[in-house]
Amino acid sequence: MILTHVDEARAALARAIDQASRIVAFTGAGISTECGVPDFRSTNSPWLKYKPIDFDVFVSSELMREEAWRRKFALDDIYAQAQPGRGHYALANLVASGKATAIITQNIDNLHQCSGTPDDRIVELHGNGTYASCLSCGLRHELVDIRRGFEATGAAPLCSACGGPVKSATISFGQPMPAEAMRRAHEATVACDLFLAIGSSLIVYPAASYPSLAKSHNARLVIVNGEATPLDSEADLVLRGDIGDILEPFAS
Ligand code: APR
Repeated sequence: MILTHVDEARAALARAIDQASRIVAFTGAGISTECGVPDFRSTNSPWLKYKPIDFDVFVSSELMREEAWRRKFALDDIYAQAQPGRGHYALANLVASGKATAIITQNIDNLHQCSGTPDDRIVELHGNGTYASCLSCGLRHELVDIRRGFEATGAAPLCSACGGPVKSATISFGQPMPAEAMRRAHEATVACDLFLAIGSSLIVYPAASYPSLAKSHNARLVIVNGEATPLDSEADLVLRGDIGDILEPFAS
């Protein structure tokens, strides 16, 4: 069933949540657009301006590492001050109430953490863009330090401990997925009875495999998104509309 009227969507979501006891939320960029963080594939997304830099290119080319850092800081300027939105707070409340066991997110914006959801309930499939790490030794680096050096020299940062290349702590195309995050996402997904997919075009794999995994383990699948997704036909319920509007009743 597809619901497009916001009151009907809110009521149906309330019923689904009421009937569930182990909810997993799966979020994509659409939950953060009302916070000023652009998504990836909507018209005018800054991400559509450039071809993504694949992981092997980042590793092999100093020039492309510099380009990656230039793009990173330009985007940070767009949304570094972003605050959580209604969707983030609604999900934080579901976790706090004990109804939701995990938030699996493709987002790198740290806004689930900022909305008060504890780290151990958040699974970041594509990493976190608010810090960096060395690709050789794993040492964490802070962006403020990297930016200072980058702006002074124009050179891509190298690790102060081992000299390895430093990269934003996000997962690029072609980069291995984080094994522990994938394990936690799998564990939460197969154990849930309601899987809420919110704000994702559901086309990037392996992340987009979790809704179907939940279904195959007998969970109900509810998709909340502004446009159709390829998994709508698998869903028990599709709530089509603005995420903040639909989740607002759960946000306070
Ligand atoms: N309300 C409802 N839907 C929205 C809203 C909103 N306020 N804002 C955006 N959307 C929808 C868009 O219509 C789109 O269908 O959210 C979806 C966002 O999809 P994408 O931009 O493809 O983002 P996502 O699915 O998170 O992308 C997956 O792609 O490039 C990678 O690594 C990146 O994690 C990202 C992955």
